[in-house]
Amino acid sequence: MAGRANEDQPGASRQKPAVDEAAYREAIAHFATGVTVITTNVDGEPAGMTASAVASLSLAPVLLLVCISTHLRTHEALENSGRFVVNVLGEEHEELARRFARSQEGKFAEVRLDPSYELPVLADAIAHFICDVKERIPGGDHSIFIGQVTECTHVPGRKPLVYFKSSFGRIDDPDRAALEPYNIGAW
Ligand SMILES: Cc1cc2nc3c(=O)[nH]c(=O)nc-3n(C[C@H](O)[C@H](O)[C@H](O)COP(=O)(O)O)c2cc1C
Repeated sequence: MAGRANEDQPGASRQKPAVDEAAYREAIAHFATGVTVITTNVDGEPAGMTASAVASLSLAPVLLLVCISTHLRTHEALENSGRFVVNVLGEEHEELARRFARSQEGKFAEVRLDPSYELPVLADAIAHFICDVKERIPGGDHSIFIGQVTECTHVPGRKPLVYFKSSFGRIDDPDRAALEPYNIGAW
């Protein structure tokens, strides 16, 4: 209807001023995450980057998602290879997290890879997920890559590296059963 106030229409919120980016960054930094290194291979060359924007998506089929900035080299590498690995870092792997958060050549120098895989699987990862890219969905200045998990494994009894308020940390409460599987109940 012409001239109608549109508060109740879908998209009305788009007319609100955008939230301040610095405020958003500060608030979202309070959402603690694990830390992963996303890897792939293009023309026989490994590529990879540190990523915390990773989530489990679906069980049937088994899907996960990773969000990657469109201007990164790893974004291009994933588009070209159509496959990737999510390597979950353990609490002692801060150096690996920092290394893969830099945009530079030679990130893989001296990084131990598991030779049993075609794709670069970090030998020190506490868990890894090998995925085929099923879909790439644009999301602002990032893409959401949806991966179908074809293979995964974990090392029992290991604790994850944690990212919180722009710092790396650990789960260090010895009384919490952080390593007990499903201790808050499965979904
Ligand atoms: C803890 C941490 C988490 C990060 N998570 C993401 C992420 O989820 N998505 C993203 O696009 N960049 C993320 N980054 C930034 C990339 O790791 C960084 O831009 C990296 O240099 C990209 O490598 P490339 O330029 O070789 O592709 C993160 C950085 C850190 C330190």
